[in-house]
Amino acid sequence: MFERLNTPQELFQYKLGAALKMENTVLEMLGELEQSAQREQLKHQFRHHAEETRQQIHNIERAFAALGEEPDDSPCPAIEGLEKEGKANIKKADDSLVDAVILSGAAETEHHEIAVYEGLITEAEAMGKPEIVSLLRHNLEQEQHTLEEVKQAAQQIAQEQFAHAA
Ligand SMILES: [Fe+2]
Ligand SMILES: [Fe+2]
Repeated sequence: MFERLNTPQELFQYKLGAALKMENTVLEMLGELEQSAQREQLKHQFRHHAEETRQQIHNIERAFAALGEEPDDSPCPAIEGLEKEGKANIKKADDSLVDAVILSGAAETEHHEIAVYEGLITEAEAMGKPEIVSLLRHNLEQEQHTLEEVKQAAQQIAQEQFAHAA
């Protein structure tokens, strides 16, 4: 890992490492969310996204290879914070609210992942690395698609819950 970042290439590699750390953490989180989710449909969605996340990790490793570097992760305190907040909120929430809690954490996580990939893609394009661009774009598209599914599920649950509460 770098002591200091002195070139844009080093910065890119360091951020790619943070993305690797992010995805490995997300993979753990998805396993926990699958266990905690109350609705079968959500369990299924988290299982599916865990599969995608394994591919995403592989794509990041391939991006390192395209740079001629060994995969090396960098700190990613943002994802650790999201994980910590999500776990604390699940613990605090009544069972009837757990799915809503999980979905809000999932949406926040997907937004973060999308921002990470958009940033990396911008830089890989500027570096003239089309292979890396296409690997990262593949990951980005899965995150965007997942965010849409999470938003739809959150909307459905919110409408059910507030209709009952009214
Ligand atoms: Fe991901
Ligand atoms: Fe994701």
